[in-house]
Amino acid sequence: MAQRILTGIKPTGQLTLGNYIAVLKNLRKTIARGDSFIFIADLHALTLPIDPEILKQNSIDLAAFYLAAGLDPEKSALFLQSSVPAHAELNAIMQNYLYMGELSRMTQFKEKAGKLKENAIGLGLFAYPVLMACDIILYDANIVPVGEDQMQHIELARNLVNRFNNRYGEILTMPKAEVQKVGKRIMSLSNPLAKMSKSDPKGDIFLKDEPAVIRKKIMAAVTDSGSEVKFDEQNKPGISNLLTIYCALKDISISEAEQTFASYRYGDFKKEVADAVVNELIPFQQRYIEILNDKSYEQALKVGAKKANAIANETLKRVQKAIGLLLS
Ligand code: TYM
Repeated sequence: MAQRILTGIKPTGQLTLGNYIAVLKNLRKTIARGDSFIFIADLHALTLPIDPEILKQNSIDLAAFYLAAGLDPEKSALFLQSSVPAHAELNAIMQNYLYMGELSRMTQFKEKAGKLKENAIGLGLFAYPVLMACDIILYDANIVPVGEDQMQHIELARNLVNRFNNRYGEILTMPKAEVQKVGKRIMSLSNPLAKMSKSDPKGDIFLKDEPAVIRKKIMAAVTDSGSEVKFDEQNKPGISNLLTIYCALKDISISEAEQTFASYRYGDFKKEVADAVVNELIPFQQRYIEILNDKSYEQALKVGAKKANAIANETLKRVQKAIGLLLS
C-alpha cells in the first residue's frame, strides 16, 4: 500500500519551537513521501477551557503556519478536525474498544488532570486518546510524525487496531509513530528538565517571537556548571538541549556540533544557537504573515475538508459494516 501520512496539532496556545521541530520543519519532505492528511485538532482543543475567539484565531494561525512550512494544499489535505464529522462518529464507536484502565495510565492525562480539581476534569480530557486514535485510523495512516510525548497515545492506537482486527478481520491499518532522530523532545529554556510546552512563556520560544526576543530568551537559557559544550543530558541538560535545538535546525549530528563548538565558551555557543533559530524562523514568519494577509488558508481548508471527508467516510462505512451497523 502507498504511504499514508497523518499528523495534527492542537490550536490551544502559541506554537513553540518544539512543535516546529517535531512537525513543521520537515513537513515539506514528509508530505512528499505519500498521500498526506494534515489537520488542526480543534476538537481536542476543547478538552481544557478555551475562549471561542482565541480558539478561532489559533486555528487560523495554525493553518497559516502549516502553509508557511511548505504544505501544498493541492498535494496534501489540510483541514479542521471539526469539519470532518466522521472523527466524532468513529469516536462514538471506538470508545467501546478502549478501556478505563489503559486510559488512566496515559502520562499526559495524569499530568493535565493533576493540575485540576476533580470536578473540573472533563470526560473529554480522559477520553482524549480515543479521539486521537480515530484521527489516525480514519485515514488508514501508516506514518504519524510526532514528538516523543505523543508516542504513548500512538501505542494505544496500535493496541486498538490489533484488538479490533483480531475481532473483526483486517479492517484497520496499523499506524507507526515517527520521531525526529535529533529533537524528539525539546526542553524548556528556563527548566531543561521539563518539556517545552505551549504554556510556559519564559521557557518557550514561540514561533511568533521577534528576533530580539528569541535572542534574549536563548542568551538567558539556564545552563549548567562547567564550561565545555558537550552533550550530556544527565549532567548538562541545559547545554544538551541547546545542542539538540542547533542540530535539529541545521540537520547535523550531535557529534558534529560538539566538534564545531569544542573550543567555544557557553556565551559564544548560545549566540550561535540564537543565530540558527533566528535565521530559520525569520523567513518562516514572513511567509506566515503573507498567508494571513492573502487568506489563502481559507481555500486550502475548504479543498482539504472535501478530500478528508471522502476518505474518512469510506473508512467509517467499512467499520460500521464490520460491526453490524449498516443494514445493507
Ligand atoms: P500538540 O499540539 O501538543 O503538539 C503538536 C506536535 O508537537 C510535538 N511537540 C514536541 N516535540 C518535541 N519537543 C517538544 N517540546 C514538543 N512539544 C510538542 C508533539 O509531540 C506533536 O507532534 N495530541 C496531539 C495532536 C493530535 C494528533 C492526532 C497528532 C491529535 N490527533 C493524531 C498526531 C496524530 C497534540 O496534542 O499535539
